[in-house]
Amino acid sequence: MLKRVIPFAHHLIEQVVKPGDHVIDATCGNGHDTIMLSRAVGEAGKVYAFDIQAEAIANTKNRLVTESVSNVELIHDSHDQISQYVDQQITAAIFNLGYLPGSDKTVITKPGHTIGAIQQIIARLKQGGILVCVVYHGHPGGEEEKNALLDYFTEFDQQYFNVLRYGFINQKNNPPFVLAVEKKKTD
Ligand SMILES: C[S@@+](CC[C@H](N)C(=O)[O-])C[C@H]1O[C@@H](n2cnc3c(N)ncnc32)[C@H](O)[C@@H]1O
Repeated sequence: MLKRVIPFAHHLIEQVVKPGDHVIDATCGNGHDTIMLSRAVGEAGKVYAFDIQAEAIANTKNRLVTESVSNVELIHDSHDQISQYVDQQITAAIFNLGYLPGSDKTVITKPGHTIGAIQQIIARLKQGGILVCVVYHGHPGGEEEKNALLDYFTEFDQQYFNVLRYGFINQKNNPPFVLAVEKKKTD
């Protein structure tokens, strides 16, 4: 069976992450990806979870409490400030782009911030590590972000990175797709 995009994104991360690792949720929103990452790194690991909206931080916090999770640092700031909070090596990161479901549809991820954050994560990504973006692009501003990311990732040197696009090409209404970057080697 072909996995839908979110299960596929989670599957990629779960293949790579080990207990004790440090990972990033760059857009925690309602906390679904944060919980997946928390389980993958276990009690000895750590998840840095970012969001610019107080509502998203509160929603994720509630989910963490319900699930009795204690290995997540919630950071109410833009993901392009990652360097201020994370200096460890990272095994995996996830971005779920677009707007917070059920909330203000005008607060969206923006290409400049997203690419700024990706640059900082790539610099901290371990050899064999993975960065995954779930790209939603049907909303106003989404097409611009999608194109900026495709342009940016297309330039990644294949000696150092594998870059994958995964999505369904026969779905209606701008279906989301996955962009994933695997760091093959560091030098
Ligand atoms: C599609 S939602 C994320 C859904 C989430 N991963 C989940 O599992 O529920 C996108 C989120 O990105 C957040 N966001 C937008 N710009 C951001 C930025 N510059 N830094 C961090 N988060 C941002 C929005 O507030 C929103 O909550």
